[in-house]
Amino acid sequence: MEVVICSSEQQIAAIAADVFETLLRTSTNPVLGVATGSSPVLIYDELVRRHVEKGLSFAHAKAFMLDEYVGLPIDHPERYRNVIERQLASRLDFAPGAVQGPDGNAVDLPAACGAYEEMIVDAGGVDVQLLGIGTDGHIAFNEPASSLASRTRVKMLTEQTRVDNARFFDSLEQVPHYCVTQGLGTIMDAAHLLLVANGPAKAEAVAQLVEGPISAMWPATVMQWHPHVTVLLDEAAAAGLRLADYYRDAFTNKPSWQGL
Ligand code: GLP
Repeated sequence: MEVVICSSEQQIAAIAADVFETLLRTSTNPVLGVATGSSPVLIYDELVRRHVEKGLSFAHAKAFMLDEYVGLPIDHPERYRNVIERQLASRLDFAPGAVQGPDGNAVDLPAACGAYEEMIVDAGGVDVQLLGIGTDGHIAFNEPASSLASRTRVKMLTEQTRVDNARFFDSLEQVPHYCVTQGLGTIMDAAHLLLVANGPAKAEAVAQLVEGPISAMWPATVMQWHPHVTVLLDEAAAAGLRLADYYRDAFTNKPSWQGL
């Protein structure tokens, strides 16, 4: 796991955008894994800026979302499909149908989850998967006690996650109780995992992710098994790391030929 402690959210956005730009410019069929939440917003703004100002094209790319609430009306602004459309897809030149997400309104949710897994495989798998992290250590909506080998499925949200996400809704009561989410095993199939976190509320989850024991109680810790993980943090999110100075040294003194 490579840990990069950044001086600002802008620096996190620039480094993450570099990873996606390299993929987009070097692959003929890049597959992006996109995330919702507040953490990726500046990254999406930076990608849009590069699209507008530098001609960075997404026309040959596909993108898969991590998760979705169950049962939100199709036009609800907080339905993750609509969030990604607003923040990213509608501002770029993706081909029609190139951005896909799990269907939280399917009549047969388990069948839709299986079909979503197949779509990702048929696309060749995710090249770079962007991830945020919940305060309880969840990635996507894989709540504590999720199977470390789980695939896309229906999950019940914890009260903690509903409270954390209530800021996007008018009240806590409006936050759905259920979601569909890529499983930890699904996420682990991506070639490169790129996790971003900022702010003091994420410090404990980040410390567990990087330095804690692998445990279903902190689902993100499964990433310790992945061969290619980059963790981009601000100082506040990195505050609980025992080896913070070591990570700083390793990044500062990294050979120029070694990318992220
Ligand atoms: C939600 C999403 C996660 C995201 C998490 C953290 O629960 N399902 O994918 O990582 O929120 O969000 P934020 O970046 O807003 O803190």
